Amino acid sequence: MRILGVHCGHDASACLLADGEIVAIAAEERFTRIKHDSGFPSAAIGFCLEAGGIDARDIDVMAVAGAHMPLGMDRHLQLSPQQQADVAAARPVALRAAQVLRRDELGDLPTFVQRLSLAPECRLEHVHHHRCHAAAAYFTRRSDAPCLVVTMDGIGDGVSTAVWHGHGGTLTPLARWGREGSLGWFYGVVTEALGWQHGDSEGTTMALAAYGDPSRLLDQLAPFHPAYERGTLAVPHEFGRPTEWIRHGALHWHFPDAVAIRRIAQEHSAADVAAAAQEILERQALGLVRHWLDAQNTRRLACAGGVFLNVKMNQRIWYEADVEEHWIMPDAGDSGLALGAALHAWHSRGERPPRPLTHLSFGPAYSDGAVRDVLNARGIAYRPTADAPAEAARLLAAGKVIGWFQGRMEAGPRALGNRSILMSPLAAANKDVLNARVKFREGFRPFCPSIPAERASTYLQGGRAEDFMITSFRVAADTRERIPAVVHVDGTLRPQTVRRDVNPPFHALLDQFGRLTGEHAVINTSFNVKGEPIVCNPRDAIRCFFDTGLDALVIGGLVMEKPGGA
Ligand SMILES: [Fe+2]
Repeated sequence: MRILGVHCGHDASACLLADGEIVAIAAEERFTRIKHDSGFPSAAIGFCLEAGGIDARDIDVMAVAGAHMPLGMDRHLQLSPQQQADVAAARPVALRAAQVLRRDELGDLPTFVQRLSLAPECRLEHVHHHRCHAAAAYFTRRSDAPCLVVTMDGIGDGVSTAVWHGHGGTLTPLARWGREGSLGWFYGVVTEALGWQHGDSEGTTMALAAYGDPSRLLDQLAPFHPAYERGTLAVPHEFGRPTEWIRHGALHWHFPDAVAIRRIAQEHSAADVAAAAQEILERQALGLVRHWLDAQNTRRLACAGGVFLNVKMNQRIWYEADVEEHWIMPDAGDSGLALGAALHAWHSRGERPPRPLTHLSFGPAYSDGAVRDVLNARGIAYRPTADAPAEAARLLAAGKVIGWFQGRMEAGPRALGNRSILMSPLAAANKDVLNARVKFREGFRPFCPSIPAERASTYLQGGRAEDFMITSFRVAADTRERIPAVVHVDGTLRPQTVRRDVNPPFHALLDQFGRLTGEHAVINTSFNVKGEPIVCNPRDAIRCFFDTGLDALVIGGLVMEKPGGA
């Protein structure tokens, strides 16, 4: 059975499952180069079909993330009368009315746009936004024991926060809250107030928080956030009327509260606002999670939704919620909805065993021959290498900043060793070098290390395996001296633990680097410049190489170096 999962909206994405096995996942932004592309994911779907070696007519089920198909999405599909009726029936009455009013805007597309032509017997299924998040978390765990599932984001299908009981392949909703309980919106509004993009730059707010005093402005921010007590929403917050803005194909938001919070930041300090917001988020999420773990009498927790991209909040839950299992779906934001919708469709057809997610390398790959063609056509010099990991380790040990492009592109927001920029973490100044020369971003943003899984305990204090860089941990006593460039100002680091069997070339690189320098850790940051999506194909990588201060690019079995390189 072939199931195509589709998410059309902010961070549009597609996913193909064949008999429950993930064949491909990709976000539209990687192909269109529009960060958070919020349209119909036609390029991502095209890639998924190609990866599966199938045609749209071979799809048995198209699982659409969202309680109903977004207005304007169906014009990208060639649907049978029955399928059209299914789409219309799922749509609320108000939206059907809007559809009539917006006929011009939602009319036919130009003829050169190819529509996706599904077989008439292909079933169209709509899956609630938060059920997609919950399914993405629950069906990708390593365990099938009963657990609590918590989903938190800005808003999706009218829900911002939900708790579920996962048991025997079934997700039962326990409670849910709407926009008035949105901690994701609160944190996004603070991000906007600090001058960054809501739905994009929350990580910047989180990084700045480490430089502020979390207690100084707690009272001033109190009027701006919802509050949960004893597992339920005790103080709802009226967020006012947010406005949406589409810029270059990506959705952006403005909230009235951002103006007032901006004033607080100007009168006091941006770092203290960020720190207070982080403290509020952590306290609220921790309280909610603790209550429901106790109420469900379980120590097993699975999470998803964009709020769980906050690695410091995850850290607090890990250290303080007394959890035995702590699984955070690594593609936690809305780009993970396509997988969630597809997994729901698969598992709703009978009890099927979960398949643990061990990696996210489900994007496109390119052969050395394909890369050579690109380089030769442009007259760019390169040399082949028989041992890319050893070559890369040698460059890193010599202090070079390198692009590392291998195998299939990762899904989700993090580079996990296939589309990465790497540097040695041994010198504290390397963080500033990367921020200034390569990433062109704020100097306070930290970098994270990749560490061989078997070495993690030498760097972390009370940590655990963390294959996806989605939780930070306190560091062991001498870690700051050993690898200063990856320890944040608050004495934490956010690692990726790399398993030899999951990513052999990247593990070999870390191993070689350890042999050369004595430290088995390298800085791993996503292969992109600020404001752009992670690179997808060799051309994107080459553009980024020449547009930044990268010294070398190791792409498959080929090496490019700038003059003056190692
Ligand atoms: Fe979401």
